[in-house]
Amino acid sequence: MSYKILEGKKGIVFGALDKKSIAWKTAETIVDSGGEIVLTNAPIAIRMGNIVELSKQLDSPIIPADATSVKDLQNLINKSIEYFNGKIDFVLHSIGMSVNVRKGKNYTDLNYDWLTKGWDISAVSFHKLLQILHKSKAMNEWGSILALTYIAAQRTFPNYNDMAENKAYLESIARSFGYFFGKDYKVRINTISQSPTLTKAGEGVKGLDGFLKYSEKMSPLGNASAEDCAKYIVMMFSDYTKKVSLQNLYHDGGFSSVGVSQEIINSI
Ligand code: NAI
Repeated sequence: MSYKILEGKKGIVFGALDKKSIAWKTAETIVDSGGEIVLTNAPIAIRMGNIVELSKQLDSPIIPADATSVKDLQNLINKSIEYFNGKIDFVLHSIGMSVNVRKGKNYTDLNYDWLTKGWDISAVSFHKLLQILHKSKAMNEWGSILALTYIAAQRTFPNYNDMAENKAYLESIARSFGYFFGKDYKVRINTISQSPTLTKAGEGVKGLDGFLKYSEKMSPLGNASAEDCAKYIVMMFSDYTKKVSLQNLYHDGGFSSVGVSQEIINSI
């Protein structure tokens, strides 16, 4: 059952690549909840993925943007305001990529050009996006901006590699820019720290299957799925969460607060 808690709200969803993408499920759930969206992704991902199918399904336009390009992002914001015929109420940054992870480099043997590229895509892109939204006065009052993150920003998960630093940086940007957006425009910024999820980005992490099983056994409620995450995001975009800001919100079935579970002890 869907509640139309986003009726009248308009926003941008980054990062829907294929049906498994958290952003894909979120786009569907937003529209189901009465919201209107513009979809965006990097030009190459639009060619390689299935986002055109989603665009048709939801009757939502795609405006391409490489999230590392200030020019592309500015064009995206201008065109979205034109399309909506007004300012924006919510934005989802659902973007992550590490070249070192993709090419199987170990954390103790990182390639720094690749590290810089992954940092730009996964973390600095969020600052670029926020800076453009802020300078363009593009957000409506009581708007909501979210980025997706992972608990490797706080704790060590060896195979998460340089993405751990990227996520720590991303979470810090949410807090720092959240201050200014709150003061200047009454807009909230948060990160959601999601359970491991089987997606294209997730598959890149060595041993994801083991990760998934381990966190399933550790979490009292079990892992949170992409569909669960989509619903949480919709709530965070709704007027029911107007005073939640500068937070890293764990959406992980309780994983982050558990020391050890009986299932893990039993499996040793
Ligand atoms: P996904 O692979 O479906 O989504 C990642 C998206 O980033 C893709 O759509 C890709 O095209 C986009 N992207 C990459 N480079 C880009 C660029 N230069 N410009 C614009 N877009 C670009 O995977 P998933 O899992 O849905 O990832 C979404 C977010 O959730 C990421 O931030 C990821 O780190 C985060 N997350 C994922 C978890 C998982 O286990 N899958 C767990 C916790 C957080």
